[in-house]
Amino acid sequence: MSDPDVSGPDKVLIFDTTLRDGEQSPGATLNTQEKLEIARQLARLGVDIIEAGFPAASPGDLEAVQLIAKTVGQEPRTDKHGRPAEPPVICGLARANKKDIDAAWEAVRFAKHPRIHTFLATSSLHMEHKLRMTPDAVVEAVHEMVGYAKALCDDIEFSPEDAGRSDPRFLYRVLAAAIAAGATTVNIPDTVGYTTPDEFGRLIRDIRQNTPGAEDVIISVHCHNDLGLATANTLAGIQNGARQVEVTVNGIGERAGNTSLEEIVMALYVRRQVYELETNIVTQEIHRSSDMVSRYTGMVIQPNKAIVGANAFAHEAGIHQDGMLKHKRTYEIMDASTIGLSKSNLVLGKHSGRHAFRVRLQEMGYHLSDEELNKVFQRFKALADKKKIISDVDLEALVGDEMYQPRETWELVNVQVQTGTQVVPTAVVTLRNLKTGAEITDAGFGTGPVDAVYQGINRIVGAPNRLVEYLVQAITEGMDANGDVTIRIAVPDSRGYKHTAQGRPRRRLFSGRGVDTDIVVASAKAYMQALNKLLAANTNEDSAAVAPASEGAVTV
Ligand code: KIV
Ligand code: ZN
Repeated sequence: MSDPDVSGPDKVLIFDTTLRDGEQSPGATLNTQEKLEIARQLARLGVDIIEAGFPAASPGDLEAVQLIAKTVGQEPRTDKHGRPAEPPVICGLARANKKDIDAAWEAVRFAKHPRIHTFLATSSLHMEHKLRMTPDAVVEAVHEMVGYAKALCDDIEFSPEDAGRSDPRFLYRVLAAAIAAGATTVNIPDTVGYTTPDEFGRLIRDIRQNTPGAEDVIISVHCHNDLGLATANTLAGIQNGARQVEVTVNGIGERAGNTSLEEIVMALYVRRQVYELETNIVTQEIHRSSDMVSRYTGMVIQPNKAIVGANAFAHEAGIHQDGMLKHKRTYEIMDASTIGLSKSNLVLGKHSGRHAFRVRLQEMGYHLSDEELNKVFQRFKALADKKKIISDVDLEALVGDEMYQPRETWELVNVQVQTGTQVVPTAVVTLRNLKTGAEITDAGFGTGPVDAVYQGINRIVGAPNRLVEYLVQAITEGMDANGDVTIRIAVPDSRGYKHTAQGRPRRRLFSGRGVDTDIVVASAKAYMQALNKLLAANTNEDSAAVAPASEGAVTV
């Protein structure tokens, strides 16, 4: 039951940090185009606040947040009832120092509703060992830096980092200082996913009751999933008065991730009699958002993941299938269509024309320019020659694969392999350098056809790395299914500390994903995407003031 003394709006605001905390997942690096596309999808999904990045981390991060503020942050949208709605708030993260706050403001100020989110750690452990600041100095810095941010922007969020392990009485002091200096939202992070639902709920209740000024601001919660308790803790926070939740699509994020957006939204929706609270989320956009985030970050979703896993609506056991046929509700607590998993009546195939193709993509939420549509349509025709029926999943893969490959440096032109039991697997690869226009062909030998292709590509691109993960999945059923390859490559991290706390060499990961009916071709595409991300990151960093590895850069 909801805490009866929780007054306030019957809405829970959804603050999505997929592009900031989510992008901090090892290997989940996104390019600017991918970030923009995800931000557009988050706006369609109806999130209230998009934390678009950490602008002080690098010029590339600042530029991406700025682009999102200038576009998604200004574009009106439609709410879940189909009525015109305001653009989302666009938020940028900043450590509690002037340089970070200036960078965040420079990035978000173009949005119709900008927000600066600043944070400083408050646990003894962090204050003593990381910040080397006394508690009094922390309170003073919070007051000063929130005030500094407030002079730039009306909407200010403050987070006491590691609140879950901080002394509650000290938290009341710090939060009171932030509120007095102008914070409009105070966010309580369980940074290391340490608390239990009872403890975290109590912490939120006590903060509301003991912090001067708490009644005038929104209390937010931000939970990590180290003990698998992020969703439970967030719900406990809501039951104790939190009215903003910080979440990511598919629960991606640092280490074991953040609270997953879809779990909170569907818990509040399916169990609305318990919570009596609403969100602004258009639940029918959940599946598409999940798929897009997984595709662009290369973070594959576990099949049994709640709400968005491939098995979430699958019924294998005979007894369950029998029950389902008699009455759907016997084993299903929500309709697949509620999260946008509906079957289309419009089947596309070899004979479908450009118009039907465009209409289907529009129904699916993709609004492509003529040039983009032409490119994807050509790919669609080529696929339809190999595959009888093209499903929505195939189409999503095609759009994602064609449009959002980073194109900064190299493009795959052709790949040809010879393999078998009596030959050394050999590949001939042709790549185009998009900067010079030159086409280069080379050959590679390997232990198998994919290895041979990768060796051939390496000879042309010359960016040493190590393949640390290779995963191939079929995304539709049947012999003509599209193969979906996800890979991760690693390079030594030359920035900041060279070793992890455990003494292992620090490395950076880049993911790539490729789709094709031929898994060797899909593998080549995935590798090109990862390599292009690596090359783009190197170019970006040549001119960047990169944040310390512990705060924003993705290292493992
Ligand atoms: O987990 C955390 O403490 C954070 C803060 C920056 C809010 O991500
Ligand atoms: Zn976090």
